[in-house]
Amino acid sequence: MSQTHRHPFLNGLSKHRGAPPTVLVIFGASGDLTQRKLIPAIANLALDNLLPSEFHFIGFGRTPVSDADFRTLSKEAIESHSRRSIIDDVWERIRPQFSYHAGDYGAADAFKALADRIHEMEKQRDSHFQLLFYISTPPGVFSSIIRNLGLSGLASHGADSDHPARVIIEKPFGHDLESARELNRTLRSHFREDQIYRIDHYLGKETVQDLLVQRFANAIFEPIWNREYVSCVQVTVAEQLGVGSRAGYYDQSGALRDMIQNHAMQLVSLTAMEPPVSLDPESIRDEKVKVLKAIQPLDLRNSEGDAVRAQYREGLIEGQRVHGYKQENGVPAGSSTETYAALRLFINNWRWKGVPFYVRSGKRMARRTSEIAIQFKRPPGILFSEGNRFDLSPNIMVIRVQPDEGVTLLLNSKVPGLETRTQPVKMHFNYATTYGSNTPEAYERLILDAMVGDSTLFIRGDETEESWRIITPVLEHWEALDARGLETYSAGSWGPLAAERLLWEHKHEWRRPGP
Ligand code: BG6
Repeated sequence: MSQTHRHPFLNGLSKHRGAPPTVLVIFGASGDLTQRKLIPAIANLALDNLLPSEFHFIGFGRTPVSDADFRTLSKEAIESHSRRSIIDDVWERIRPQFSYHAGDYGAADAFKALADRIHEMEKQRDSHFQLLFYISTPPGVFSSIIRNLGLSGLASHGADSDHPARVIIEKPFGHDLESARELNRTLRSHFREDQIYRIDHYLGKETVQDLLVQRFANAIFEPIWNREYVSCVQVTVAEQLGVGSRAGYYDQSGALRDMIQNHAMQLVSLTAMEPPVSLDPESIRDEKVKVLKAIQPLDLRNSEGDAVRAQYREGLIEGQRVHGYKQENGVPAGSSTETYAALRLFINNWRWKGVPFYVRSGKRMARRTSEIAIQFKRPPGILFSEGNRFDLSPNIMVIRVQPDEGVTLLLNSKVPGLETRTQPVKMHFNYATTYGSNTPEAYERLILDAMVGDSTLFIRGDETEESWRIITPVLEHWEALDARGLETYSAGSWGPLAAERLLWEHKHEWRRPGP
């Protein structure tokens, strides 16, 4: 089995030994994501000795910054955002490997200068470097960067070797189906698909990876993981935070594009997919795409359809009064951007026909919770059914993606005593209790995987287009309606009442995720 076809589960962390000398170039070096997540991820990989022995990181940005200043900024980013404090020795070891390259993303000569710089490094060390380009800029310059990587020859660096240049591309991957297709075309005219790593950081989360293990390393779930036993599936990606300082981006995006098209749809595909024939990246991604292909187009009738959107009003978060969306800095007064979206999806295949998958995501919700809840059908009401002595709940398996990562199974149990009474109880598995709490951040896993050429936890081109195929008609429908039909909800609540309607038809209720 070649290095590129190994999977993290098979390789474990020993795979870093296979990473050749590498130059990582991050475009958007002074951006928020680079400072908060990417630089701390590099430092944590260094702390765990997971970087290749020959490793160089070049921050690429528009503003001129000296190498020395970039190193100082990077150290500050690590101190403020790393999950662990980085030992001085480790920082001293990696500090000289950090450098900065200033240039305009649209300027061919800036990329030519970057290529010259890398060739010079190779010459000096008499070594061939694997190149990893991480595009973490605003989406408006994605295409210019990709074209310039192509034209400068950087995209084809090592193309015929075992370690071809790779490009990691951040979200948003397009803003609708057509723009996603266009971006795929641009990428593919300079890179082969096996060089392209479309990121969705949810796939780097431990619990999301564990979903495959829970499903396919245990024999007890597979027989009941289907329409015979499952009544519905609820995927919740809720945040307490508001739009913060990102109004410029967010107002153009909204919850459907920002969270559902990518993160929530990934959770749906991993939950619903068939067992892959093996753990190699293509087998897993093939199965995920099949799920997306089987999702039937949404019914978009206004008051009965499969989609609800809403915007937060002023409200209370943890007892503190917070602004409504329209009062946030940078949000246009008449904005009709949704900060909450809920969908009812049906997967038209043998396993799931008729089982609703409810998906919701919102900002300024009651709690920060991402979870997948598999709700099973109730037992026949023959034995424990009469009166209110029997407080029966459907069995629910909850995969808690974050925070308080773990799995909970809701069962009905007898309350101790001489009278037979029942009560729902919870069986918990907690990551923190079992494994300790310091699990790697998603970006550590993803950067490492890209470095060793493992694309399992990245999105394939057809996957992103299938997901946009489902979402784009909803976006177009809402755009045409403008503010008509846009619901509101108080900050700190579980979203608009109208979203309950999606579940009534099948006699379901949204879960209230709690501790
Ligand atoms: C990003 C979105 O993709 O995910 C943000 O653009 C959101 O709006 C973030 O806040 C949530 O990520 P996490 O890992 O904190 O759940």
